[in-house]
Amino acid sequence: MEPTERRRPAADVLVIGAGVIGLAIAWRCRQRGLSVTVVDPAPGSGASRTAAGMLAPVTELHYGEQSLLALNLASAARYPSFAAELQEVTGRSIGYRRSGTVVAAWDAADLAALRDLAGFAATLGQPVQTLTGRELRALVPGIAPGLPGGLLAPEDHQVDNRRLHGALLAAVAGSGAALIDAPVARIDLAGDRVNGVTLADGTALAAGTVVLAAGAHSGRIAGLPEGARPRVHPVKGQTVRLRMAVETMPPLILRGTVKGAPVYLVPRDPDGPASGDGAAPARPGVGPARGGRSGTAELVIGASSEEAGFDCTPRAGAVYELLRDAQSLLPAVSEAELVEVSTGLRPGSPDNAPLIGRTGIDGLVVATGHYRNGVLLTPITGDGVAALLADGDLPPALDAFQPERRAPQEVR
Ligand code: GLY
Repeated sequence: MEPTERRRPAADVLVIGAGVIGLAIAWRCRQRGLSVTVVDPAPGSGASRTAAGMLAPVTELHYGEQSLLALNLASAARYPSFAAELQEVTGRSIGYRRSGTVVAAWDAADLAALRDLAGFAATLGQPVQTLTGRELRALVPGIAPGLPGGLLAPEDHQVDNRRLHGALLAAVAGSGAALIDAPVARIDLAGDRVNGVTLADGTALAAGTVVLAAGAHSGRIAGLPEGARPRVHPVKGQTVRLRMAVETMPPLILRGTVKGAPVYLVPRDPDGPASGDGAAPARPGVGPARGGRSGTAELVIGASSEEAGFDCTPRAGAVYELLRDAQSLLPAVSEAELVEVSTGLRPGSPDNAPLIGRTGIDGLVVATGHYRNGVLLTPITGDGVAALLADGDLPPALDAFQPERRAPQEVR
């Protein structure tokens, strides 16, 4: 049935998904003068919430992913102005912290692998410093004794992903976009062209362009022909949030691979006034915390990586392994307060790189498949999709990530 009876007035752009990617697109489109509707049954409840907020182009670098590295670096370079603009528009800090990241080696073999990574990063112009055991302990005083060394990636930073989401939501709401908290039942086609969506309650929303930015769920929304669905698959990730004394926190992001299992520990700023109040973040470990529980801060530990379909049930074994490995790197973890276990789905793509741009169906744009880099790639995705819709072209930096490219390899 053609859903005309309850069709609302058309927006230029309808974004499916109010995670950080969908909201950044919506915000930037509004700034370009486009009318925007965003639809999501539970904004910010998915990967945007579970993420740890690392901006890690170097320490998540893999051999063979140089073009993704270039995109990651380009987006990382936008973060200072992106954070400042969001703060100016909304009065909220997003906890952007140029903290740097330390990767601790677990043993001699791991140290050799890290030195290889440092060499590879250096060939790509990335400043990475190898560390002796002594230098590692000087940077992270609470680290477990006996670790042989590691490396420092000074340009791998962090943002508080939940504050980021809150600020983007406020920016979008303040921009005049319509936000609809409802599930999308299907994407509507008129002939060969997408012309809107129908919500689960039967309401039809018309749009000039539909932007599919529903993360791992982007391939599940009904209405598109089989071959037109974005090739994303869910990769379950669990993170654990602890609260601990500021003086026991690592002063910068700490990563490691404990007996073959990767783990990361991301220290947030000491407790201040309520999240999103716009206060400038204090430096970790420096001075007393203001407000909240004096002298404590949040530590985010992540993340599992599980092929479990769309199941988001927290798994005890994953939590156990994360805490065990985190404690192996930072013994003070065992004294921390356990605050939260969070489970989300990374939108994996065939080559681990995002799918951004027009599709073979007129009126349908996708922005998904960001896999491990959704928070990092938020600024460049928002800017790029808005440029596509306002000017007609995707910026050159995103050319290689068009959805209908041939993936060089099927990587899982
Ligand atoms: N980027 C961190 C993760 O996906 O676990």
